[in-house]
Amino acid sequence: MHTIEVKELHVQIEEKEILKGINLIIKSGEIHALMGPNGNGKSTLLMAIMGHPKYEITKGDILFNNKSILDLSVDERSKLGLFLAMQNPQTIPGVSNLEYLKYVVNAHSEEKQKLKDIMSDIRTKAKDLDFDLNMLKRFVNDGFSGGEKKKNEILQMKMLNPLFSLIDEIDSGLDVDALEVVSKNLNALDFSKMGMVIVSHYDRFFKKVIPTHAHVIIDGKIITSGGKEIVDKINSEGYNWVKELI
Ligand SMILES: Nc1ncnc2c1ncn2[C@@H]1O[C@H](COP(=O)(O)OP(=O)(O)OP(=O)(O)O)[C@@H](O)[C@H]1O
Ligand SMILES: [Mg+2]
Repeated sequence: MHTIEVKELHVQIEEKEILKGINLIIKSGEIHALMGPNGNGKSTLLMAIMGHPKYEITKGDILFNNKSILDLSVDERSKLGLFLAMQNPQTIPGVSNLEYLKYVVNAHSEEKQKLKDIMSDIRTKAKDLDFDLNMLKRFVNDGFSGGEKKKNEILQMKMLNPLFSLIDEIDSGLDVDALEVVSKNLNALDFSKMGMVIVSHYDRFFKKVIPTHAHVIIDGKIITSGGKEIVDKINSEGYNWVKELI
């Protein structure tokens, strides 16, 4: 069993404090729903856990299996088993999706593999995602539709098989069929070895991938935590009841 522990985390971006003391423990086997109104720090928390250099940690700590990872770079955290599916995936013109997947897989294993060695694995995983194989030959996310970019994030996740997946608004931009396919892929993961944080604004996604825990972030703090009943309450009542708890 593995753990990520976020302790009293304060994060600022360009001198502006965004996270103001976040405490959160995520263990293998758990799916944490992270909700909250726009611009209140959800993506910032995931970026800070992953180690994006723009997000400056001014106080607090992030522990992976009881050891601080604050000194580790993004690639070192990735090698430990952390993965972030970004809200706005980056485009990498000039690098084909297939080559990119090969680099990513090789960066995470001792044994260096050629593309032909991992091709059938890529093909199976892409097919499970209903992901057009021709997309794999194109540059990473270049000209991809919103939904295609989101599926591409999940394809990378499945190739890496991380210990912790941080998934930021994967459902935004997915059509109803794609939403079904992506949730099916997430539910098929081996959760005995993986912990997950899912940011989403909508209960329809959490009806498909059912969280074990739920938290609401407002103004850089977790205001309330509980189980999936929190998601239901936000769906029917909005955020006013959470704001009254502040
Ligand atoms: N480079 C930056 N400079 C200044 N402020 C920033 C910068 N990047 C992010 N912010 C601010 O940080 C705050 C938190 O942003 P964050 O992306 O974490 O919100 P969020 O909760 O993920 O929102 P959403 O639901 O819209 O995705 C926002 O007010 C945002 O404008
Ligand atoms: Mg966000």
